[in-house]
Amino acid sequence: MTTPRTCFKVCSGRACSANFSRFTLERAQSEAIIQKKNIDIGSCPCQGRCEMGPTAVIEKDEKKEVFSHVDPPRAAELIRNM
Ligand code: FES
Repeated sequence: MTTPRTCFKVCSGRACSANFSRFTLERAQSEAIIQKKNIDIGSCPCQGRCEMGPTAVIEKDEKKEVFSHVDPPRAAELIRNM
């Protein structure tokens, strides 16, 4: 199996954790399974957008995009569109 080049990371910093980022992460993981997407899903450190959390990062083809206010439905939408 090849290493996925596409990553979806959810901030596990203090502010995002207080905004229930773990639910965002869980929703992303389950949506990737439902959609059968080969995406590396995990946590990342603080991205400096603490007041706009939960924050998520998509890394694909050497590009990095940061998203704010990623609640579980938004995480599912992002995964579906990857
Ligand atoms: S704690 Fe998530 S962006 Fe800072």
